[in-house]
Amino acid sequence: MPIDEKRGQIQGMFDAIAAHYDCINRWLSLRRDAAWRNALLVALPCSTRMTILDLATGTGEVLLSLVADKYANNFVVGADISVAMLRTARLKIENEGKEDCTALTMAAAESLCFADNTFDLITVAFGVRNFSDRDAGLAEMYRVLRPGGRILVLEFSLPENGFIRSAYLVYFRRILPFLAGLISRHPDAYRYLNRSVEEFPESGVFSARLKAAGFQRIALQRMTFGIATLYIAYKTH
Ligand SMILES: C[S@@+](CC[C@H](N)C(=O)[O-])C[C@H]1O[C@@H](n2cnc3c(N)ncnc32)[C@H](O)[C@@H]1O
Repeated sequence: MPIDEKRGQIQGMFDAIAAHYDCINRWLSLRRDAAWRNALLVALPCSTRMTILDLATGTGEVLLSLVADKYANNFVVGADISVAMLRTARLKIENEGKEDCTALTMAAAESLCFADNTFDLITVAFGVRNFSDRDAGLAEMYRVLRPGGRILVLEFSLPENGFIRSAYLVYFRRILPFLAGLISRHPDAYRYLNRSVEEFPESGVFSARLKAAGFQRIALQRMTFGIATLYIAYKTH
């Protein structure tokens, strides 16, 4: 399928589920999603004033955590292709009074509208898997990150332990799409979720793609039996 067409489909899917996205995430991950996003905060550099890109920002969950309380001096730009997800993010930003330290833009990861070396840090939570051209997205992230900066990529993965993996796949393939479909009335979006996670490269292969894009000092942290993985990688020069 041509890349633009694939991106259009993904955009339409997230537009359709935006209204229920946060609620479904909370319940179907048994509130683990907040803990996974929190791991991003633990991996932040010590600097108290950063210009950050939260790519595939969605409803702005990560973006808002990056300007909360002790991070109040950060400036975070959220970029996404879905108007409806960005609209929800805008409402949440307004509710929390964070308009001065955030900005939202409609932009695709594969062609970012920022100058080279703009950001101190780039975060992407559960977004990379959806890029229609993943290598192009990683290359763009590398381009707009300043030398010395790091990226934090949080993504779903599959448990390595065979028994846990089998049990998880029953939940992921059958129960989750059924329940999420009932709530959102878009079961296809949640069938796409499990397909895209199962198709996402395993950690060694994805780390190699990060390296091919130019990133170095690549490290990873598996969470909750390997259901989610956090990748940390640097642009060293
Ligand atoms: C699963 S949501 C994650 C949202 C948010 N980061 C979070 O942690 O909840 C994936 C987001 O990626 C966005 N997205 C998909 N493909 C994209 C692309 N090529 N460029 C930018 N955003 C994209 C979708 O619109 C959606 O909002």
